[in-house]
Amino acid sequence: MPTPARLHVAHALHEVFGEGGRVPDIWDRDLGEDAQLALALLGLCLRRWGRLQAWVKPKLKDPDRGVPLGTRVALAMGLVQLAWLPGVSDHAAVNESVDLAADRDLGFPPHKGLVNALLRRAAKDRPALAVELDALPAALDRSPAAERALVAALAPHHAEGELEALWARLQQPPRPDFFLLKGEAPEGLLPVPELPGCLALAEGAPFPRPWLESAGGMVQDRSSQALLAYAWDRTVTRILDACAAPGGKTTTLALRHPGATLTALEVHPRRAARLRQTLEQRGLEARVIQADAAEWLEGNECTFDLILLDAPCSGSGTLQKHPEWPWLRHDDLPRLVGLQRRLLQAATDRLASGGLLVYAVCSWLPEECGAHREWLTQARPDLHPAAVWPAALGTAGDTEGNTTAHFRPHPMRWEGEGFQGFAVCRA
Ligand SMILES: C[S@@+](CC[C@H](N)C(=O)[O-])C[C@H]1O[C@@H](n2cnc3c(N)ncnc32)[C@H](O)[C@@H]1O
Repeated sequence: MPTPARLHVAHALHEVFGEGGRVPDIWDRDLGEDAQLALALLGLCLRRWGRLQAWVKPKLKDPDRGVPLGTRVALAMGLVQLAWLPGVSDHAAVNESVDLAADRDLGFPPHKGLVNALLRRAAKDRPALAVELDALPAALDRSPAAERALVAALAPHHAEGELEALWARLQQPPRPDFFLLKGEAPEGLLPVPELPGCLALAEGAPFPRPWLESAGGMVQDRSSQALLAYAWDRTVTRILDACAAPGGKTTTLALRHPGATLTALEVHPRRAARLRQTLEQRGLEARVIQADAAEWLEGNECTFDLILLDAPCSGSGTLQKHPEWPWLRHDDLPRLVGLQRRLLQAATDRLASGGLLVYAVCSWLPEECGAHREWLTQARPDLHPAAVWPAALGTAGDTEGNTTAHFRPHPMRWEGEGFQGFAVCRA
């Protein structure tokens, strides 16, 4: 019987490659010390999936015949442990994968012998296996969706080799950033000079769980921090955070504009409850309303001086943190783009005269940001671009002197997640 850690990884791989679904947030709960192994194993299986399958294929009797997912999962997990996880013994890597292949739900019992034979052969020279796998083209690990996200990230055009370099960077496990909420930063967190309050985890430093639990700081990617460092000196008394959970940006808004009243909308009941809890834990006040933001805004007359619309999106910019992203179904994109447009329309209708609206998505895809911005330019002559970010966070050719109204840090010069946004001001 495979260990719980390996069973959890196999379940997650079936969810991704069988259903096109995401790895559940709490997939590694209750794994204790084995959580590290499970995390490394799952990450490598997801990030090297194409190469692992390409390595297996020519070794099959009939390479053109489809291989059941259970066999592919058991082989991929065994190969990853043999090639890149030197702490795992040959015996554990091979035997546990064979046991997995024998599992009726997660494996494919008729292929138990095949899995055993291929892995035993591979175990004879583990360094050579790693070299062979690494030598296969990295492009094999990219789905068409990933390819499209990379091209969009580097748009309008990219130099030779840039796409491969970006992909290689995004295959490294991400390092979290933090935002200081109060007091001093604990040891092991280093200030990021260009962003006040932003802290990075030093090499080898432990994850600062006690500090986060005491609300001394929060995990927040540097792209989100840079987005919220907009330059805006007009009076802000009424703020709307239209899509607020889990509340990272609501927290920053509350701290940046302490005298203002803050309304935070969130459609999902459980996420709205988490948002309330987060704000309470941090001692911050906001009116949290569980509602569809478009419906709520369409049914209310109130206006706001500052609106943040951090819209639900494809998440293409987060593929470093979510290595399953390339393999998701992605059939939801048209619905998301429609929802973003509706939210944007409803939000701009509630922007007070002289007010600022910041729209953002953690995605590189043009239909999730640039297309909305163009539509707004045509549809709403009362709204004007507001150049509230340093030009370095925008795209060349889309800046006004030292500033830009289009937030789009270049992925080759910026270590944060892929983010796009724009700011408009109402006349
Ligand atoms: C990108 S996340 C927001 C992240 C948040 N701003 C933060 O920094 O912590 C988008 C959020 O919008 C919520 N959402 C999706 N559709 C919505 C809708 N129609 N109205 C309000 N919230 C919505 C999602 O449940 C999700 O929590």
